[in-house]
Amino acid sequence: MPLYDHHNRGIDYLRISVTDRCNLACVYCKPRQNMHVLPHREILQYEEMHRLATVAAGLGISRVRVTGGEPLVRRGVIDFIASLGSIPGLQDISLTTNGVLLPAMIDDLHGAGLRRLNISLDSLEPRKFSEITGMQAWDSVWRGIERAEELGFTPLKINMVPVRGVNDDEIVAFSLLTRSRRIHVRFIEFMPIGANDRWCTEACVTADETRDIIEREIGPLTPFTTESGAGPSQNYTIPGARGVIGFISPITKHFCSTCRRLRLTADGKIRPCLLSDTEIDVKSPMRGGCDDEELRRLLKCALQIKPERHYIHATAQGCYERTMSKIGG
Ligand code: GTP
Ligand code: 5AD
Repeated sequence: MPLYDHHNRGIDYLRISVTDRCNLACVYCKPRQNMHVLPHREILQYEEMHRLATVAAGLGISRVRVTGGEPLVRRGVIDFIASLGSIPGLQDISLTTNGVLLPAMIDDLHGAGLRRLNISLDSLEPRKFSEITGMQAWDSVWRGIERAEELGFTPLKINMVPVRGVNDDEIVAFSLLTRSRRIHVRFIEFMPIGANDRWCTEACVTADETRDIIEREIGPLTPFTTESGAGPSQNYTIPGARGVIGFISPITKHFCSTCRRLRLTADGKIRPCLLSDTEIDVKSPMRGGCDDEELRRLLKCALQIKPERHYIHATAQGCYERTMSKIGG
């Protein structure tokens, strides 16, 4: 049984950010000014995250996604992922990564029981990848993707944020990847969060625009629905293709009414909505010696305050205290 929030949405999905650090500096994510990273003592220990996840699973959370910053930069993350597998009630454990460290870690991640992987990749051109991310690491990410396919990760999802004038000329190339590969390519609308001084309405390529480009160049897309449903993505396929094309449209078509998520930030706050800075501190109570009943109460409290929806399209500016890398996407 999922939990229910104040707006009667079933909540069964927790995103755990294990670090606010990231080894890339993507133009659409990292602010231009130097970004402060938290000292280690401010970050939850894995034991604390495990405890919170156990309590949440006892209440009805059945899916956990491990995120960052970049989760693979935190030492011990593979053991942490393996430890999540032993929590009663958790049926689905997944990871979102930028893929840079995947070649060295993916076999061990698979060994730890991980089967679901989302990889952020914003260009298929190594040089442009370096311009966007600040690192020459395209080959590593691509090797990671190929190894993930070999190991049979399903679904294997690639996230691409089209930014006008930067990588929107690659929308068709990304879409064509799905013809022969059993992967999901998802186009995410650029949100005014994170490096918000680079965001402007014009920079955001909307889901409708992206879809128009694909249909004009490749042909009509067919709607595709999965068994598990209710992710943020509207999915389609190119007829006859092995993979899936998804559109995540927080700006133009919010999906708040079907949102099933809570987030745990690396510094120990429950964040009920990606796009709201209202959070509940669980680190101080845990470090102060609270019992599990108190954690259950705090989690239920988060459900009470989860906003009905966000208004990011209306504010159209990033007024969030955290960057994306400090929330975990
Ligand atoms: P699965 O459905 O488990 O595959 O996860 P996902 O697609 O949400 O995971 P991923 O980490 O790949 O997230 C993709 C992107 O979707 C995020 O970076 C956000 O841009 C967007 N997104 C995810 N969750 C939310 C949400 O609750 N609200 C909004 N507005 N956007 C979200
Ligand atoms: N808008 C949209 N998506 C973003 N991501 C990071 N910053 C933004 C932004 N401002 C995406 C990354 C990654 C996911 C976790 O979040 O590309 O795929």
